[in-house]
This record gives sequence, structure tokens and C-alpha cells, in this order.
Amino acid sequence: MEISKVGVLGAGLMGHGIAQIAAQAGWDVVVREVDQEHLDRGIGRIEKQLARAVEKGRMEQDDADAVRGRIQGTLDYGDLGDSDLVVEAITEDLGMKLDMWRELDGIVKDGAVLATNTSSLSVIDQAVATKRPNRFIGLHFFNPPQVMPLLEVVQTVTTDEESLKTGFEFGEKLGKLTVHAKDKTGFIVNRLLVPYLLDAIRAYEEGVGSIEQIDAAMKAGANHPMGPFTLLDFVGLDTTKSIADIMFDEYRERRFAAPPTLRKMVSAGFYGRKSGRGFYDYSGEQPQAVDPGL
Ligand code: CAA
Repeated sequence: MEISKVGVLGAGLMGHGIAQIAAQAGWDVVVREVDQEHLDRGIGRIEKQLARAVEKGRMEQDDADAVRGRIQGTLDYGDLGDSDLVVEAITEDLGMKLDMWRELDGIVKDGAVLATNTSSLSVIDQAVATKRPNRFIGLHFFNPPQVMPLLEVVQTVTTDEESLKTGFEFGEKLGKLTVHAKDKTGFIVNRLLVPYLLDAIRAYEEGVGSIEQIDAAMKAGANHPMGPFTLLDFVGLDTTKSIADIMFDEYRERRFAAPPTLRKMVSAGFYGRKSGRGFYDYSGEQPQAVDPGL
């Protein structure tokens, strides 16, 4: 199916990045937020990234202006009506997503493909909230979407071939490596990555090494760009816990169970980079590992 306009729901961590790369690939994009403050923040992030790309000589100013010109911000679902593909990247809360899809389903034109960027919820649970479960797919991007090369394209038991193909074509035009994943909680990457992150916390709880040592070991010993605690803080401890809880609920396996340290840190509001403190404290020049003292 030919895409000319892409709708993005949410201009947060993932949504702003998805809107940016879709506009960079040449599509008109409309990105919707709940209020002006969130919208301005998301658009501001895009403008900052574009300015940085120009500054670094990766993009001409005219091209950056053209990309920005293709992005329309809105608070109104009605502006997504003529989108050919709508990707949601709102809060990872099934209730909120279902309310949104029910409202949007009556607004977005027939034939458009709807997609969720969920990292852990079952895609089918959202698909059936719409009158077009055959036109519903998962498009799972990785943080930061502007940089991470992978896109998981998720097929549910109701997804038709044309919608799946649209998902793959979209990802390929974005320059992503696309992989096909079945609608199984965690898909491919989180199924393997989340138990690894949780295990790093268990290793710390058991005294195998300090936060810095475990991070340094995985960077130098496995060639990972970030150690597990840096990555946990980057993804967000609240997000990781919520993914782990959903996966544990689905599979009932210990490897998906959130360790006590993670639970307590989330209760304390230590969410990682976004809150200024997680396994590291971000208030100084350089992040400093903090002993959670649990
Ligand atoms: N948005 C846009 N661009 C960004 C960015 C962001 N948030 N962060 C970094 N970049 C860009 C920088 O602009 C830079 O580009 P240039 O060199 O052209 O200027 C490039 O990425 C490299 O950045 P840095 O030099 O600042 O830092 P780095 O080399 O350490 O790379 C990183 C940063 C790409 C984030 C790298 O550390 C990395 O790959 N980390 C692992 C990230 C990861 O595993 N993500 C997946 C998380 S799991 C997930 O997302 C799934 C889920 O459902 C939870």
C-alpha cells in the first residue's frame, strides 16, 4: 500500500523520534500529543536533533527545514484522519491505548494501517479494540529511534498480508533492518534483553560485582555499547519494571520477574536518566554509581 501521510501518536521519547525519521524519509507526518506542553517538548527535541545534524555537516540547512516543514504537531485526533499509517507511541498502558484506538478508529480513513510501538503488550489485545483487526500490526522501534537500526514488524493472528507488507516497506524506507516477529510478549529483542538486564540486578544483589564493575565488564567483555546498569537507566527503571511485570504475567518464569531492588527503586521514584537518578546519579558532570542500599 502506498503511504503518503504518517500519523504518530505521542511525541515522547519514542514518538518524537519516529516522527522525525518518518519526515526524514520524505513522508508528511502529523504528530499528536495530549497537551501543548508535551507537544512543544517533542517538537523541540526534533528541532534540536535537526540543528545538530546541520551543525555536524550531516544535513544541509534546506533539507533540515524541509524535514521540519513536513511535520505538523496537533492536539486534535481529527488531523490524523487522512493518514495512511498511524503509529502509536503513547504510555505503555493498555487501558489508555484501547481508549485512544476506539476514538481514533472512527476518524482514520478506511484502509489505513494502524500500528503499535508497544514493547511488551500483546498486539492482538489492541487490534481487537478496532473494527479493523486485519489492518493492525506491531512496529517496535528501539531507543533512540533515530539511531537504532532495528525495527520488529509484528504480525498478529488477524493481520492480513498487505498490512504486514506495508509495515516492512515502511521500515525499509526508514532505512531500518526489519525483522518479522510473532505476537508473543517481548517479541525477539525484549524476550532476550529484559532477562539479561534483570539478571544484572540479581548479580549485583548477590554481590558478584559493583554497578561500575558489572557495566565495565559487559562493555569490555561482550562489546556492548552500554553496560546493563547504564542501559537500565537509559531505558528507564519504571519502563523496565513494567515490561518485566507484563512478561512475568504472561510466562510465569523467574527470569522475567522484577528483582526486589528494581521494585524498590521504582517505588522511590528513581527511574534512571529521566528522573536524574537510577543506578547512577546524573546531577554532576559525570554519572556516579549510587549504591541503592537495599
Ligand atoms: N536521539 C538522536 N540521536 C542520538 C541520541 C538520541 N537520543 N543519542 C545519541 N544520538 C546520536 C548522536 O547524535 C550521535 O550521532 P553523531 O555521531 O552523528 O553525532 C550518535 O548517536 C552517537 O551518540 P554519542 O556519540 O553521543 O554516544 P554513543 O556513541 O555512546 O551512542 C547510543 C549512544 C547510540 C545510545 C549507544 O550508546 C547505544 O547504542 N546504546 C545502546 C542503546 C540500546 O541498547 N537501545 C535499545 C534499548 S531497548 C529498547 O529500546 C527496547 C524497549 O522496548 C525497551
